[in-house]
Amino acid sequence: MNLALPELDQLSRPPDEAAGMLLLQRAERGFLRAALRALEGAFNQPFSLLEADSGEIFYAASSGLTCDYYPRLAVLAEAARRGRPEIIEQESPLSLLAVPLKSWEHESTLVAVSVLLNERVEEEAQIASAARVFGVDARRALEWSRQSETWSPRVLLRLAEATLDNLIQRAQLSHLQHEVNEAVGHVRDTHVELGLLNRLARRLDVSQPLDELWRTTVQWLADAVPAQCVAVVARRDSLSGWRPLFGEHGPPEIIHGECPVDPPELSEMMERLGKAGRRPLVINRPHTSSPTWAFPTVRELASAPIIQGSQLEGWILTLNHSGLAGAELCEFGSAELRLLESVSSVLGVHRHNAGLFACQGDLFAASVRALTSAIDAKDTYTRGHSERVARLSVCLAEQLGLTKEQLDTLYLGGLLHDIGKIGIDDQVLNKCGPLTPEEFEQIKKHPQLGYDILRGVRQLQKILPIVLHHHEAWDGSGYPHGLQGESTPLVARVLAVADSYDAMSSDRPYRPGMPQEQIDQILRAGAGKQWDPEVVDAFFGCQARMQRASTDETVGAIPLDPFQWLN
Ligand SMILES: [Fe+2]
Ligand SMILES: [Fe+2]
Repeated sequence: MNLALPELDQLSRPPDEAAGMLLLQRAERGFLRAALRALEGAFNQPFSLLEADSGEIFYAASSGLTCDYYPRLAVLAEAARRGRPEIIEQESPLSLLAVPLKSWEHESTLVAVSVLLNERVEEEAQIASAARVFGVDARRALEWSRQSETWSPRVLLRLAEATLDNLIQRAQLSHLQHEVNEAVGHVRDTHVELGLLNRLARRLDVSQPLDELWRTTVQWLADAVPAQCVAVVARRDSLSGWRPLFGEHGPPEIIHGECPVDPPELSEMMERLGKAGRRPLVINRPHTSSPTWAFPTVRELASAPIIQGSQLEGWILTLNHSGLAGAELCEFGSAELRLLESVSSVLGVHRHNAGLFACQGDLFAASVRALTSAIDAKDTYTRGHSERVARLSVCLAEQLGLTKEQLDTLYLGGLLHDIGKIGIDDQVLNKCGPLTPEEFEQIKKHPQLGYDILRGVRQLQKILPIVLHHHEAWDGSGYPHGLQGESTPLVARVLAVADSYDAMSSDRPYRPGMPQEQIDQILRAGAGKQWDPEVVDAFFGCQARMQRASTDETVGAIPLDPFQWLN
């Protein structure tokens, strides 16, 4: 006889019986279901399951020979507490077998029971007495006995014990397997999280545009989380509308995958979640199946806020699990949430740092401009000279094929090369007419003065050679050190040509700017004497651009790169 055991929680039972079953944990229900199946398989008879203390029947066998268990509850409870299979009642040819099934969750007297046949029966009279004792119909008992196997009490007990031991071992093995699976899953989740954070950490460079970093991070998250959509969305400002995620003109959101709602609704959705939306959050079904859930296309959601300082700036979200619909684990959990939290906190701090770095860069540029203005204000005859020399130097450097770092150095060096003039007497600096030898000696001090002013500023060390040596001459006749040839740093030799060109080409109150031919003649004559001949050659290689740089503020101008100067 092969009995099909119905699913425990699908049985039609009285309401109190069904409620009792719901109290059992899922794992325990699985164990009990397996136990009943194993006993049924061993004895080829169905077993019922009941709680002896309360008399609650969790599963009532619908076939086989069942008796009234209620008068026997006290005996069943004692057997359950002893913990081993027992024949609690015997009236030949019937035995009532009780197999205690311990609950993992709480002290219980759960016990599987079944009436079993001890010996073959030929006539109704042979089973009538036992049928009376067990409260079953003798004719039905006889029919049942003809289809049932017989078990001597000794074999019956041995088989029950062996089945129970086997069940317990399988349950322990299954429990261990479950723990191992959980540990493996945890290690895998941690590995994914650390890997992503490691990659993210290596990209955290405040001088680099945030756009690429954030898009790459969203892509990494999409690779790591089984979601149909990964999104970063900025909080919507109620007064000014959308805030960019980063920078002044960044996007309000970055979406990867198929977004189940219109992207502008994402921020609204998170705002509508109120306080919950300001904390790390996981929402799965059945919550999202409720009629009160306002975003029915969002089945699963995990989110972490992006906080900058104490300000909520936006969210990182994963939407709709990409696992098979209806699958048991098709929902977001602690692993996804932890990953989002880690990434959002890193991005929040990085966004803050990038903002601070940008502010520092702005402050640096404004400070340099202020110093440049101070130099120009001091020397009224040469207004705009520093800015023009900076641009002219960049043009020459480009013509010479110098590096970006040298271009940056020459631009900033150009802006500040005459800063030492701040320490020169106004009357000498602004004298209209030829200088006396003493006055010229004073003027010659401005490179050293400039060097002394700036040498304490760590970030400006690269421009010190320009400030100190921009009046050296190729033949050693310059000042302050009389350096010859290439012993003067290249950047200073380049700036010297730009400086002289601007001095010759600019109008001064006491003389107009020289004609181009005259300047060319002077530069040619001075190549290899006052100036580096290669730099003079470069000048003639980009003469038209040099002329434009003298008057056009955009030619040769390069942004002051904060990464170059503030690191
Ligand atoms: Fe100078
Ligand atoms: Fe100058």
